[in-house]
Amino acid sequence: MMYRSAIFLIVFSLFQMGCNTAQNATVHSPNGRLELNTRTSEGILVYSIKRDGQEIVHPSRLGFLFKQQTGYADNLTITGMATTSINDTWEQPWGEERFIKDHYNELTLNLKNTIVDGVKMSVIFRMYDDGVAFRYVIPGSEQFVMTDELTEFAVGSNPEAWWMKAYQWNRYEYLYEHTTLSEIDTVHTPLTMKVSDDLYLSIHEAALTDYSSMSLEHTGQNVLKCNLYPWADGSKVKGQFPLMSPWRTIQISDSAGGLITSYLILNCNEPNALGDVSWVKPGKYLGIWWGMHLGTYTWQMSEHHGATTENALRHIDYAAEYGFDGVLIEGWNQGWNADWYKDGNVFSFTEPFPDFDLNAVTDYALQKDVKIIGHHETSAAIGNYEVQVDDAFRLYKSRGIDAIKTGYVGHGTDIVPVGGKPGDREWHHGQYMVRHYRNIVEKAATYKIMLDVHEPIKPTGIRRTYPNMMTREGARGQEYNAWSEDGGNPPDYTTIIPFTRLLAGPMDFTPGIFDLTFEKAGRANNRVNTTLAKQLALYVVIYSPLQMAADLPENYVNQPAFQFIKDVPVDWSTTLVPHAAIGDFITTVRKDRNSEDWYVGSITNENERDLVLDLSFLDTDRTYKATIYTDGTDNHWMHNPYPVDIHTLQVDKTKTLKLHLAAGGGTAIRLTPTNK
Ligand code: NOJ
Ligand code: CA
Repeated sequence: MMYRSAIFLIVFSLFQMGCNTAQNATVHSPNGRLELNTRTSEGILVYSIKRDGQEIVHPSRLGFLFKQQTGYADNLTITGMATTSINDTWEQPWGEERFIKDHYNELTLNLKNTIVDGVKMSVIFRMYDDGVAFRYVIPGSEQFVMTDELTEFAVGSNPEAWWMKAYQWNRYEYLYEHTTLSEIDTVHTPLTMKVSDDLYLSIHEAALTDYSSMSLEHTGQNVLKCNLYPWADGSKVKGQFPLMSPWRTIQISDSAGGLITSYLILNCNEPNALGDVSWVKPGKYLGIWWGMHLGTYTWQMSEHHGATTENALRHIDYAAEYGFDGVLIEGWNQGWNADWYKDGNVFSFTEPFPDFDLNAVTDYALQKDVKIIGHHETSAAIGNYEVQVDDAFRLYKSRGIDAIKTGYVGHGTDIVPVGGKPGDREWHHGQYMVRHYRNIVEKAATYKIMLDVHEPIKPTGIRRTYPNMMTREGARGQEYNAWSEDGGNPPDYTTIIPFTRLLAGPMDFTPGIFDLTFEKAGRANNRVNTTLAKQLALYVVIYSPLQMAADLPENYVNQPAFQFIKDVPVDWSTTLVPHAAIGDFITTVRKDRNSEDWYVGSITNENERDLVLDLSFLDTDRTYKATIYTDGTDNHWMHNPYPVDIHTLQVDKTKTLKLHLAAGGGTAIRLTPTNK
């Protein structure tokens, strides 16, 4: 399915203007709409991007500063270039889209420094129909300390932007801001922008491997500059040449929904490095979890301890009855105390509390054909975790546990490095932790263990290379609705994250709370700010290969709407986004990978709305039973969130469906063929 050719247009010219030497090269996307021009001007390397002939990224600088080495920022000249073209399709072992098209034209630009001998650098540009990616390669064998990456994105116009401020203590767990680009300071990626009704951009990175993560600093006049999370000593990246940077990615789409169905970030990652990954299995789980967030259970030993043997067996029974794959158990291991988030050095990852019999629980799970999902909360004490992790993985594996949720709760700079002295604190997003997170993924793979990482490094598509890196948090999840002092995630939150954080990869958001107002838990100051139908729709809108039914399992008893959560798959053959307005509403349509069923999730912000869904995506010559779970006419997330109207209709691809979404509401639909 793959071919290579060099038949696309590339222009390279050298011309002299007085004493200035300018050199440039141009490369287009396969459909010709995107054009990248790169050039050196007075020794400075820049690139710019046009769409349909209009410049959308103005000349933007490229290059580096190092502590010792000089010559990677200026006095650069192009010495040559190579081009290639790839048109390939590859298959994801699991995912939101089974077959991914990988079609691009690539230009490798080779440079040298005209003054400093031996300085060479290449920049590889990839032009896809859905955006642009580029990365740097520096040959050599010397040690280096990078003090700055000079990459810029001169967006030029002043688009609307949805952003989250970087360098905050609570990592990526903040609400998004929505302003114009000119009002932002230094922000996390993905940074998503709306330039006009038919032009959306999102800047992120791919294949973050042994490097600091990129935030974006607004340096004025709508120019964003790469701002790398520093080490405690101020350096940005440490290593030894050859240096291969992560890809800098700019997704470019005519529509907001087009950003979601762009797989550019995955395409920029290396193929599966693990070979046979039939042991990696998407699934649904419930857990001993929400009770701790509500305060009705504790992680630590107490009369309300959640992780007791008895409670674990009860949860296994529920999972078996509901047809779920797994049960997450938090708080079974020694170390949890009331201050667990202040010092992770207390944790043992192998020693259970006296009221938890690991063997009895895992034996019972085996008998009931339910998998236990292990839990490693590190509270950011990396040294304490790294010395125990092999023993913990070995123990878990011996007890039939092959998925683990990890956690890194701690202030942004709470990471105490292995061997570090007090005060040697690192960022969750710096190179030290990028290395740690990667090491754990690789180590887990050697034990055939799947990971769900909370307080993670942001996703950059490495699930393609390591398919055991299933899902992660990396944003405010459902847990904020249980205890956040600001009242939890407002109704528009889940209409923003599909276009921002979720562009980077799957999220363990943990939808499915049915007791929305916590009356049974007796918690007056918090609630879930959605209707119940919207909780169902989130299973389709928010993609995760491990998907939790987050409420206490007893809250699903005698709830007809729970049937949707039982039915909804977690592995898809294709994904479409027919309705999308960032911060307002989104409809996501996905086809089950293991059946001919389609599923629809549609959600709105605090405003009620009616949408019309064109069913032309359905297969020809088939009729379907649509089972619709929707808000009733009087629903409202605040005043009347519970009623779910469940009804069925016969439909086919010539039909449309009217979707009524209450304020803060949603609709979830299962479409099952009635003829084969
Ligand atoms: C934060 C995680 O996001 C949450 O899911 C977990 O329950 C707590 N840490 C405790 O590990
Ligand atoms: Ca968290």
